[in-house]
Amino acid sequence: MMKKIKVAVLFGGCSDEYSVSLHSAAGVLRALDPQRYEIILIGIDRKGDWFLTSASPAEIEADQWHQPENQRLQLTLARSRFELKTASNAPIDVDVFFPVLHGRNGEDGSLQGMFELFHIPFVGCGLDASLLGMDKALSHQLAQQHGIEVSPFQVFNSAELDQKRSQIQRLKLPCFVKPARGGSSIGITKITAWKELDSACAAAAKHDSRILIEEAVVGEEIGCSVLETAEGLVLGAVDRIHLNSDFFDYEEKYVDTHAEVECPAPLPDFISEQMRRMALKLWEIHHCHGLVRVDCFLTGDQRIVFNEINTLPGMTATSRYPRMMGQAGITFEMILDTLIDEALRRSAKWTA
Ligand SMILES: Nc1ncnc2c1ncn2[C@@H]1O[C@H](COP(=O)(O)OP(=O)(O)O)[C@@H](O)[C@H]1O
Ligand SMILES: [Mg+2]
Repeated sequence: MMKKIKVAVLFGGCSDEYSVSLHSAAGVLRALDPQRYEIILIGIDRKGDWFLTSASPAEIEADQWHQPENQRLQLTLARSRFELKTASNAPIDVDVFFPVLHGRNGEDGSLQGMFELFHIPFVGCGLDASLLGMDKALSHQLAQQHGIEVSPFQVFNSAELDQKRSQIQRLKLPCFVKPARGGSSIGITKITAWKELDSACAAAAKHDSRILIEEAVVGEEIGCSVLETAEGLVLGAVDRIHLNSDFFDYEEKYVDTHAEVECPAPLPDFISEQMRRMALKLWEIHHCHGLVRVDCFLTGDQRIVFNEINTLPGMTATSRYPRMMGQAGITFEMILDTLIDEALRRSAKWTA
């Protein structure tokens, strides 16, 4: 029998998107083939401590993975060598890490940088793409430099609001005020009058000191997914989101999921094609690896305006990324196999 690949699935995390990660992790765990993989399940609590756990996907989803038998983990690092041990010093062997983490400290390049520095195989984008993808301002600037349209925006430090006010107010209302490095719509406010600016900035500043404000785009939200395979990049179907509220906020995404996602989106071929080309271009300029979901707006006059890239998109069985790839004939199981193969292939090229 083939030796099983030891995959360490990381979930939870010290991030605003801790709960979102629990759902993604349950989705990933249900789809990982137990014949092919030995799963090492590592829960990261909200403080950032790592625990070895044998919680079930349902317990993880319900945030009931904190169990007395969980073992606290320590990671010891030395150049080209890393050791993961339990508190009782039992070493844990891992072939590849699979971070199923969203937001800061998991999707923003910090963890990826550690993996790269110590030559630890891991799934998904590296330090550079993760950092650029998490920072909406850097990502907008990069896209703009490559001729990709973004909505007019300003970025500033929350302490600089008064200094920058007149410049900011040159933007046309309504605007979206966001933490530069955030996700799942947390800390985002749509403002329709400048008197709302201060409270919107205060809400964003709870999540990041860097704030992005951009003009609201009138249109629909569309997206496309990319997966790296041994044969090259594979694109998923283009999808479209129908909203029942003002924007795709946390409630719409995870609480009252009224927003309907049409996948594939019934769009003219040339629009879907343009969206796909844009996804590839954004993949390339952000130096992505493994996977990415690219989110854009489609305006009434059929312009595609870039919104953001997600280097660790939502991963439940009904999330947009697996649905888009499903339409391209790639099942959730195949996505995970491809991501793990790719991570191992990439790390085999590293020199110690
Ligand atoms: N410039 C904009 N114009 C219109 N809607 C926007 C704009 N920016 C954000 N939104 C709405 O807010 C949602 C969340 O914003 P987004 O930038 O995607 O942040 P997150 O990383 O939290 O998903 C989007 O899906 C969209 O519904
Ligand atoms: Mg988004």
